[in-house]
Amino acid sequence: MKNKIDVLQDKIKKANEGGGAARIQSQHKKGKLTARERIHFLLDENSFEEIGMMVTHRSVDFGMEREKYLGDGVVTGYGNINGRLVYVFSQDFTVFGGSLSETHAEKICKIMDMAMKNGAPLIGLNDSGGARIQEGVVSLGGYADIFYRNVQASGVIPQLSAIMGPCAGGAVYSPAITDFILMVENTSYMFVTGPNVVKTVTHEEVSSEELGGASTHATKSGVTHFACSNELDAINHVKRLLSYMPQNCEEIPLQLPYTLTDESRLSLNGIMPENSNQPYDVRSIISEVADTDSFLEVHKDYAENIVVGFIRLAGRSIGIVANQPAYLAGVLDNHASTKAARFVRFCDCFNIPLLVFEDVPGFLPGTDQEWNGIITNGAKLLYAFSEATVPRITVITRKAYGGAYDVMNSKHIGADLNYAWPTAEIAVMGAKGAAEIIFKKEITSAEHPEEKWLEKEKLYSDIFANPYRAAERGFVDEVIEPAQTRSKLIKAFKMLENKVVNRPRKKHGNIPL
Ligand code: HXC
Repeated sequence: MKNKIDVLQDKIKKANEGGGAARIQSQHKKGKLTARERIHFLLDENSFEEIGMMVTHRSVDFGMEREKYLGDGVVTGYGNINGRLVYVFSQDFTVFGGSLSETHAEKICKIMDMAMKNGAPLIGLNDSGGARIQEGVVSLGGYADIFYRNVQASGVIPQLSAIMGPCAGGAVYSPAITDFILMVENTSYMFVTGPNVVKTVTHEEVSSEELGGASTHATKSGVTHFACSNELDAINHVKRLLSYMPQNCEEIPLQLPYTLTDESRLSLNGIMPENSNQPYDVRSIISEVADTDSFLEVHKDYAENIVVGFIRLAGRSIGIVANQPAYLAGVLDNHASTKAARFVRFCDCFNIPLLVFEDVPGFLPGTDQEWNGIITNGAKLLYAFSEATVPRITVITRKAYGGAYDVMNSKHIGADLNYAWPTAEIAVMGAKGAAEIIFKKEITSAEHPEEKWLEKEKLYSDIFANPYRAAERGFVDEVIEPAQTRSKLIKAFKMLENKVVNRPRKKHGNIPL
């Protein structure tokens, strides 16, 4: 018996060594942790249970039968984060560069299937040279098996992808299907084709970092939701993100204990600038309304004219969508629309109520926007809000103009409650432009056209630059003092907690992609 236990211990030791001490050292030299170290920092102490430690590849080409490592380049299993079950795979770059073989893929698929059956989130820690080149098509098949499962799991369990190293070729499509991507600055990159292929095909010279590093994807493409300063930062972001989510689509997010006290926030009464064209940072409203330090912004550096993220409100997890007047006056454009639409759909999948702060001058005009599909992209946001069945509340803080009024979670598309601050302006368009169109003849024929224009602008503004016309119609449920926003919202979300909406039977809708 002792001998047999020794054999087992020896195998476990070997598996723990991954690709060996030299490769581990090289990994550390690059400022990267190993697959097992990452799991250690991610999961609650002693909670990790490994599955498939003894798996080896089946390849016999290129002398591969002589080079085998227990685990075959990926550590898989389950454990807890803050006491809640999660499934994890962590690619081991020290074994064939973390490349994906047939058996490596099978290990990942096995835990994906378990995560689905048992209704718990899946976390992928990606660090891989892509398809195991020695294996050819079986590796590609393995990728497709994972992609297929990512899609089946979408909307059933939360799926998070942390990119801790290379992620290239078709391999990027598994993370892309998952709910959130986190990248590490300077040590991770994602692209469909690398710098060499780019140079051959388009003659562009570009580094890996510039082409597909964390900053690039956080600012230019929006592929990653978070650019983290180092691996531990990324791991901590994964843990924090999960804290706002339920385990699966059948559950509601964890509600933290909270004792109500005086929830008025007097500072909100002074937040709006005197001049309605002056910018302010909507994050200052979000932070005042949210429980202390509970705001986690998502996609912070992409499409900054809209802010999305999670807060807690009296302990309850809430998804925020807010126009950002401090950037492009908070206008809706292509990127802002798609960013917000995806976030709204995520929240709706996982029973996270939505709170919208609206201050939007409209959709951004211009050839760039039109030619890049603002019609289709704006429709995505309209569609996403309209199909969402979670509790939905809007607070119009200032401008709600044009089509953007309808799109930003208006009552008409199914919002449950719409509040407006006394500073709200709700109309087809801004007073200046409106006056120019409807009083064109009077203005151009006037002795002093500029003065006439101002006079008509004031007239339009007096009638529409307020929340009361909308309130008379019931399009706004209540005009509230800003200081009361937090307490109103706490009560309203509590009132809506058992909301049920039944949609017409269908296979699935056809969101304008
Ligand atoms: C097998 C691989 C490998 C791969 C790396 N290795 N990539 N083994 N298949 N895809 C091995 C190396 O041989 C080396 O082994 C070890 O991993 C570390 O690699 P290095 O090159 O020494 O490391 P580094 O300099 O850091 O460069 C990392 C790298 C580079 C940028 C990832 O290795 C690289 O370009 N690899 C190939 C990437 C690629 O073209 N993959 C296929 C993409 S197509 P030793 O024994 O020396 O430690 C694809 C299609 C997917 O993935 C489609 C899905 C639909």
